[in-house]
Amino acid sequence: MEGAKGINLYEYVVNEETFHYAVEQVSHVLAWLGSLHALENPNILSISANSEAFKRYKATLQYQKIFELLLENNLEAANVFLNEHLTSQETLLHGDLNTRNIIICVDGRIAIIDFEQGQVGCGSHDAAYLISEIVIASFVVNEEIETLINLLWSCYEPDVINIDKHKRFRRHLCFQVLYRLKGPSRHIWTGHLSDDTKAKIEVWCAREFSYRL
Ligand SMILES: Nc1ncnc2c1ncn2[C@@H]1O[C@H](COP(=O)(O)OP(=O)(O)O)[C@@H](O)[C@H]1O
Ligand SMILES: [Mg+2]
Repeated sequence: MEGAKGINLYEYVVNEETFHYAVEQVSHVLAWLGSLHALENPNILSISANSEAFKRYKATLQYQKIFELLLENNLEAANVFLNEHLTSQETLLHGDLNTRNIIICVDGRIAIIDFEQGQVGCGSHDAAYLISEIVIASFVVNEEIETLINLLWSCYEPDVINIDKHKRFRRHLCFQVLYRLKGPSRHIWTGHLSDDTKAKIEVWCAREFSYRL
């Protein structure tokens, strides 16, 4: 099988000159993701059974390990959230929707690859996974973060009254941003940033955690 010919979206996200183009591409991916998650998934139970152990492993790495960085008074809510994430059976997720798994093809089409971490959960997890990279890049280009987050979320979820899902999304988002800054793969996601930018992202995460948890 021939691969998609093009460039990983990651390259456009980390280049200040192509940041806006990257946001546009991410908005297309999120609109696609929203319609994917809205499909009926008749095999959800068997997919869930087969992917549960891996989902748990990844959640330990990306969520539970991050608990060490949280304030004591956020831990109870963080635990409840993690448990909700682990038990959610809402929809079929890509499970690793990052910009290195999205290829902008030479003919302008967008290819999504690497579905091997597929799992079952709340769709807001996939959306936050991807949007976390835009949040990080927005600190480099000094874009207004809330406006960007709201814009991207509305591409994924046109139903603005789905408050619970939005709440889960914002919680996933702070974990995903902090994981990319502090987790074991930080050199890949945030290693190129200056110490000043990293410090600003950390402050943003601390505020978000205290507000969202
Ligand atoms: N079908 C494909 N078409 C084009 N490039 C691909 C394709 N599959 C993989 N790649 C390239 O190889 C990289 C790693 O492949 P991927 O399937 O994402 O493996 P990994 O599990 O290591 O992330 C991708 O980021 C992409 O650049
Ligand atoms: Mg990959």
